[in-house]
Amino acid sequence: MAGLVGAGPVAPVLRSCPPGVSGGQDPTAGHQSIVLGPAELARAAALAPGPRAVFVTGRRALRRFAAELLDVPASDLTTHFSCPRCGSGPELSHGRPGYAFRGEPVPLALSLSRSSGWILLGAVVDPPAGVTMGLDLADPSGMAFEGFEGVALTAAERAGLTGLAGPLLLQERARLWARKEAWLKMTGDGLATAPDTLDVLSRQEIRDLAAGEAGLPLNFRAAVAVSRTGS
Ligand SMILES: CC(C)(COP(=O)(O)OP(=O)(O)OC[C@H]1O[C@@H](n2cnc3c(N)ncnc32)[C@H](O)[C@@H]1OP(=O)(O)O)[C@@H](O)C(=O)NCCC(=O)NCCS
Repeated sequence: MAGLVGAGPVAPVLRSCPPGVSGGQDPTAGHQSIVLGPAELARAAALAPGPRAVFVTGRRALRRFAAELLDVPASDLTTHFSCPRCGSGPELSHGRPGYAFRGEPVPLALSLSRSSGWILLGAVVDPPAGVTMGLDLADPSGMAFEGFEGVALTAAERAGLTGLAGPLLLQERARLWARKEAWLKMTGDGLATAPDTLDVLSRQEIRDLAAGEAGLPLNFRAAVAVSRTGS
């Protein structure tokens, strides 16, 4: 497992997990495998084997991350995800991540992203009331498709890409996309908001991770957004 960085009242703790590390667990550390909750297992069962492994690995890593931050056994956490359309609770398998411990929601604002086998996790510990966070990880190699700018970017963002080509263009596309998804996870809207209507060039709540921050590959782009007032 790679880095664990940052702490503070509203500064997220970040953790990356490289491909091949099951559920963020060091295979040499002798941990018991982390078991998911019923709603997570039901969602996993509906997936094809490849996506299922990706999903399960991410959820195990997230559960372990939350348990370590709270210093409680991972098996004692109950999922408590929330969705603006469907509500929240242990039966929900999608939406904004969260857990409950002994029936009470835990004091963590959480976010998760997966890209090219990597997992990025973030948490604000003891968040002020209403504060939410979102983060996103983007592999520039996944951004090489025609029409990206038209579907994903605002006119101002497109203008900023003028003159870029090759790897620099893909990295900038990835940076902007990560900022958008971090914002949309922070608000909870997800892609219910059309990305080409959301300008992310200069929003104070969003921070680009530095190249290699949290142990991520140097060419990946990632962003984290923390709400100021609980949007
Ligand atoms: C969240 C989203 C913007 C990014 O997804 P992505 O780039 O494909 O995947 P990422 O790996 O970066 O992020 C996925 C994680 O985002 C989180 N997430 C999903 N919806 C979220 C929301 N509304 N708010 C905050 N976080 C959310 C979850 O932790 C999810 O992990 P999971 O697959 O284990 O559930 C996109 O999946 C989305 O818009 N989802 C919502 C779709 C929707 O509204 N569905 C209808 C539900 S009724």
